[in-house]
Amino acid sequence: MTGFPPRSPGSGLELGSGEIHVWAIPLDPPPERVESLGRALSADEWERARRFRFDKHRRQYVVGRGALRTLLAAYLGTRPEAVGFSYGPRGKPFLAPPFADRGLQFNLSNSDELALAGFVHGREIGVDVEFLRPMNDCEEIAERFFSESERRVLRTIPFPAKQEAFFNCWTRKEAYLKAVGEGLAAPLDSFDVTLALGEPPRMLTLNGDAGRAAPWFFHHLRPAEEYVGAIAIEGGTWEVRTWELIP
Ligand SMILES: CC(C)(COP(=O)(O)OP(=O)(O)OC[C@H]1O[C@@H](n2cnc3c(N)ncnc32)[C@H](O)[C@@H]1OP(=O)(O)O)[C@@H](O)C(=O)NCCC(=O)NCCS
Repeated sequence: MTGFPPRSPGSGLELGSGEIHVWAIPLDPPPERVESLGRALSADEWERARRFRFDKHRRQYVVGRGALRTLLAAYLGTRPEAVGFSYGPRGKPFLAPPFADRGLQFNLSNSDELALAGFVHGREIGVDVEFLRPMNDCEEIAERFFSESERRVLRTIPFPAKQEAFFNCWTRKEAYLKAVGEGLAAPLDSFDVTLALGEPPRMLTLNGDAGRAAPWFFHHLRPAEEYVGAIAIEGGTWEVRTWELIP
């Protein structure tokens, strides 16, 4: 389904100190796979799963959470059901004891039928993926969410490239917000990112300051033709390795 090479976590995974691992997770696997992934979920995750109104959204949540547990367990050398989560003030999940002090950080994002999960040691990471749906009104949406300079750049880009540039901007902003754990509590116009097609992903200013933006590391992801993604981490140089999760 994706262009990332398939890989099974097998009996364990190793994450090097300068590496970021990104896994693409197709959210519509065969029913028996949905069932086996679902067996790893905790009682509170099942409670949340049951609250989804539509089966499709329940299935996507169960597969995403089950796959996240499978991958975390492979990095930690434990069983998926033994992984526990704690949550930041705005809902960002972290590893709970006894694995909280292992330094393994992660973040998950999903859109339509694909999730991306990112893993790194020692730094908080933010991940976002978006399905490239048609966006005829992207300039109007940008009025609400993008900074003035991002809107100015978007206006100069002709259709259809404009829609992809919109999602470049969206995923980079969201990846940063998820790295710092703020979600939409942070003002979306307090920082500017690049968005033009082919331009390297980076943050241009943070609170009007280019010096504060410069250390932020961004990586652009194209897991499949119809999906665009981004990861964000503060500081460091990284080798990003990508796979599609297979059983
Ligand atoms: C909650 C939020 C962090 C991400 O929401 P989202 O884009 O709808 O969803 P994503 O699929 O990318 O991420 C959801 C996952 O991120 C994680 N997450 C939840 N809260 C988080 C937070 N505060 N910080 C980081 N990660 C978070 C969880 O793993 C969650 O998965 P789950 O729902 O299966 O538990 C928040 O930024 C939000 O509500 N965004 C809305 C989108 C928007 O308007 N963005 C403007 C960008 S220009």
